[in-house]
Amino acid sequence: MDTIFVHLLLLSFMILRPIAIAADVPESDTLGKGRNITDGETLVSADGTFTLGFFSPGASTKRYLGIWFSASSVAVCWVANGGRPVNGNSGVLVVRDTGSLLLLDGSGQTIWSSNSTSSSSSAEAQLLNSGNLVVRDGGSSSSSDAILWQSFDHPSNTLLSGMKLGKNKWTGAEWYLTSWRSADDPSPGAYRRALDTSGLPELVVWEGNVRTYRTGPWNGRWFSGVPEVSAYRNLIWYQVTTSPAEVSYGYTSNPGAALTRVVLTDAGVAKRLVWDAGARTWQTFFQGPRDVCDAYGKCGAFGLCDAGAASTWFCTCLTGFSPASPPAWSLRDTSGGCKRNVKLDCANNGSGTTTTTDGFLLVRGVKLPDTHNATVDMSITVEDCAARCLANCSCLAYAAADIRGGDVRSGCVMWTDDIVDLRYVDKGQDLYLRLARSELPAAAGPSPQRPFRTAPVVGASAAAVAVVLIVLSVVLVIRRRRRPIIPAAQSASPSVPSTELRRPPSVPSVDLSSLRRATNDFSADNVIGRGGFSTVFEGNLADGTKVAVKRLTQSYLTDGGGETFMREVEVMSELKHENLARLLAYCKDGNERILVYEYMENRSLNLCIFARDANQRAVLNWERRLEIIVGVARGVAYLHGLSKVVIHRDLKPSNVLLDGNWRAKIADFGTAKVFVDGQTNPTLVQTEGYRAPEYTARGPSLTLKCDVYSFGVVLIEIVSGQRNSSNQTLVSDARESWSQNKIKENLLDPAVGQPGPEILLRLERCVQVGLLCVQQSPADRPSMAEVVAMLTVNGTSSSQIRSHRSAAAAAAATPLATQDASSGAHGDSIYLT
Ligand SMILES: *[C@@H]1O[C@H](CO)[C@@H](O)[C@H](O)[C@H]1NC(C)=O
Ligand SMILES: *[C@@H]1O[C@H](CO)[C@@H](O)[C@H](O)[C@H]1NC(C)=O
Ligand SMILES: *[C@@H]1O[C@H](CO)[C@@H](O)[C@H](O)[C@H]1NC(C)=O
Ligand SMILES: *[C@@H]1O[C@H](CO)[C@@H](O)[C@H](O)[C@H]1NC(C)=O
Ligand SMILES: *[C@@H]1O[C@H](CO)[C@@H](O)[C@H](O)[C@H]1NC(C)=O
Repeated sequence: MDTIFVHLLLLSFMILRPIAIAADVPESDTLGKGRNITDGETLVSADGTFTLGFFSPGASTKRYLGIWFSASSVAVCWVANGGRPVNGNSGVLVVRDTGSLLLLDGSGQTIWSSNSTSSSSSAEAQLLNSGNLVVRDGGSSSSSDAILWQSFDHPSNTLLSGMKLGKNKWTGAEWYLTSWRSADDPSPGAYRRALDTSGLPELVVWEGNVRTYRTGPWNGRWFSGVPEVSAYRNLIWYQVTTSPAEVSYGYTSNPGAALTRVVLTDAGVAKRLVWDAGARTWQTFFQGPRDVCDAYGKCGAFGLCDAGAASTWFCTCLTGFSPASPPAWSLRDTSGGCKRNVKLDCANNGSGTTTTTDGFLLVRGVKLPDTHNATVDMSITVEDCAARCLANCSCLAYAAADIRGGDVRSGCVMWTDDIVDLRYVDKGQDLYLRLARSELPAAAGPSPQRPFRTAPVVGASAAAVAVVLIVLSVVLVIRRRRRPIIPAAQSASPSVPSTELRRPPSVPSVDLSSLRRATNDFSADNVIGRGGFSTVFEGNLADGTKVAVKRLTQSYLTDGGGETFMREVEVMSELKHENLARLLAYCKDGNERILVYEYMENRSLNLCIFARDANQRAVLNWERRLEIIVGVARGVAYLHGLSKVVIHRDLKPSNVLLDGNWRAKIADFGTAKVFVDGQTNPTLVQTEGYRAPEYTARGPSLTLKCDVYSFGVVLIEIVSGQRNSSNQTLVSDARESWSQNKIKENLLDPAVGQPGPEILLRLERCVQVGLLCVQQSPADRPSMAEVVAMLTVNGTSSSQIRSHRSAAAAAAATPLATQDASSGAHGDSIYLT
C-alpha cells in the first residue's frame, strides 16, 4: 500500500513540476522596463520556436547575444554583437527609457546598441513568433507603427520566413545577408548575399566587390537559374516586390510546414535548410552555387556554360562568336570570353529610322545573363520587344521578362552590353541573340515544338484502365509467387551472396603522393567529371592501369573527424556486384578525402542519354538501353537485398557509370547509408526530380521505396532522353503517352531510331514498370526485386506475353487478388487522371 502511495505521489510531482516552474518563472517573450537579461537567462517567443540569449559559437569561448531556433541551438539566425564579443559572462541586455536596446558588459560599457529612440518612456523589447526581435513603445503594443527597431531589418547570415532582402527606395536602406567569418566567429565574413535591384531583381553573392554567384533574374515564377524552387510550394511561398517604395525578395512558410531557413555559409554558399524534426537535423534542400557553371562569368562575355558537357570544356562560345584569345582558351582559361565573328549591320539614321539586316538566334533553355545594366519594360509584349531591340543598334539580345503566362510570355528585357554568365539549366528560358544575317542558320524556320496532344478519348482511357488492372495483377502474381521468382532473378547475377554478406577485407588506403603522381598532381587535364561535391580525375598507375580518382571538395566536408567518411568507405568496400562501381582504394590525409574507383571508359549515363548532339545519343541503341535498365535494377535490388540493407538515396543518371561494354555500374555511395535499427532516419540529400513525393510532402520518411521511385524516373529518362524536371513534367508526359498507347510516337527518344516490334514490346513493358515505380503511394510501388523479375520475364514472344497476361487476369479474378487490385487502383491516381 505504502509503495503504491509513494508512486502516486511521485507521479503527481512529475506531472505538476513543469506547471509549478512555469508559474514561478514564466518564460517571457518580453523584456520590459526594469528587467534585464543576463548570461544564462533567455527570452522565448510565445509559441516557443525561437530563443534569445547569450551563446558561444562552435569552439569559441567568447559570448555573443543572439537568437536561435529553440529546437536546434546551433541554428543561430541573428547575432547582435558579431564583431564585438562580450568577455566572460558579464553581458546584460537592457531597454532604456529612451527607447534603445543596449548590450552592456560588466563595467557598464555599451557593447552594442539598437540606436532607436522613443518619444514615450515605456519602450519594451519582444521576441515574436517569427524570430523577429522588436523594440516598440510599450503604450501602443501590437501596433506596427510603434515599432522603433527590429532585428529583421538588420539580418546576419540567415534569412527567415517574413524577412526581406532588397532595398527600401525611400530611405535607401538595404537588407542583405553577411556570412560569418567562420563557424566559430560570427564577425562579418567575406561574403554578402544581396538583391541586385537594377535591371530585373536577382540574388547575387559578392566576395568584396566581386560577384561570385547569381541566381538569375526573377521571371515572375522563380529565379531564372533556380527553377527547382518551384518544387517547394508545399513548404514556402516566394514574394518578389517591385514598387516605387521598395524592391525586395522574401518568403513565407506555409502554416504547419517544417521549420526552414536560408543561410549564407562562411564559404559563400547559400543553402536552403529544412528541419527534420524526427532526425533532429537540418536537411539541405538547395544550395548555390551548385556546379562549375554557377561560378560567375565562368565562360566570359558571350560564352555559354554546359555543366553536362561531354568534355571538361564546360564552355563554348555562342553561335556567331569565337574565343577572344584562342591560346588562353585552349589552356582552358575561358574567362576572357568570346568575340563576334561578323560585325552587326545596323545604322541609326538621324531622323530616328534604323536600317539593319541583322536577325535573332534563339538560344534555348538558359539561365538569363546578368541583367544589371539591362533595360526592362514590363508593359510590352515579347513581339514588341523583338521589334524594339531590332530598331536599336545598341541592343544585342532580348528575352521575355515575365513567364507567368506560360506560353504567353510578356515583358521585355534588352541587353546592350556584354552577355555575361550564361549557362544551360533545366527548364531554362529563351534568349534571343542578335547576329549578322550571314551568321544565322540559313532557313530559320519555326522552332521545333513538341507536338500538341489532344485529350485522351474515352475509349483509350477505358483501355488504359484495363491494362492497368492487368499490370497490377502481374505485380500481385509476382508478389504471391515471391519465393520461387525472386531467387531465380537474383541467380542471374552470380556475385550476389545468397544469405549472409561475406566480409571481404577492407579496401586498402593509398597515400596522397601516389595519387598526386597518378593524376599529374590533380592536373586540370586529367579532370573527367565534376559534380557539386567532388572532382573526378583520370589516374594512371605505374603498371598502366587506369583508375577514376574522386576528390571530395573540401569546403563541403562537414565531417571534421572523418568518421562518416570512414564508415562509408567501410560500407562501400563490402559491396560487390557486377552492376556496382568497385571501390579500389581510399585516401584520407589531412583535409583530403579521396576515393579510387575502377575506371569507366564510357563515363556516365547522363552524358549519353542527355547529349545535345543527336548522333551522340544514338550511340546508345535500344538494346544497350534495355540492358542498362536491367543492370541498374539489378544493382539496386542487390543493395536492397543485403542483410544490412543499403539505400542508395541519390540514384540518377550521373551516378550510373558505363564500362567499355556499356554495362551499367551504379556509383556514388557518398550519400548511401546502411539501413539498420536505430538509424531509421539518416540524413538525406536527394536530387530534385528524382526525389519521391512522400519525402518532400510529409517530411522525411526514407524507405527503400524512395530508391524505387528514383529508379522509375531514371528508367523513363533512359527511354525518352529527356530530364524529369522538378515539377515532374516528364513523369506526367510518360503517363499520358502510355495511357494513349503512344509511347513510340510521343515518348521514345527519336534520335535512337525506330525500334523493331520486339524491342518496342520490351520498351513498352519497361515504361509500364517505370510508371509502377513512380506511383504516389510508396505502398503501391513494387520492390526492386519485383522490378527485376518484371523486367526479365521473357517477354520477347507475344504469345508468351498473352499467356502471361491471361494468367494474370485469371489471378485477378480470385477474390483476394480482386480486392487487392481494387485497393491498388484506388490509391493509384496516375492512370486514371
Ligand atoms: C539586472 O537586474 C538585476 C535584478 O533583476 C539587478 O540587480 C541588476 O542591477 C540589473 N543589471 C543591470 C545592468 O541593469
Ligand atoms: C549605433 O550607433 C553607433 C554610433 O553611431 C554605431 O557605431 C553602431 O554601429 C550603431 N548600431 C547599430 C546597430 O546600427
Ligand atoms: C537614311 O536612311 C535611308 C534609307 O532608309 C538612306 O537612303 C539614307 O542615306 C540615310 N541617311 C543617312 C544620313 O544616313
Ligand atoms: C555595367 O556597366 C558598367 C559601366 O559600363 C560596367 O562597368 C559593368 O561591368 C557592367 N555590369 C555588368 C554586369 O555587365
Ligand atoms: C537604345 O537602347 C538604349 C538602352 O536601352 C537606350 O539608352 C537608347 O536611348 C536607345 N536608343 C534609341 C535610338 O532608341
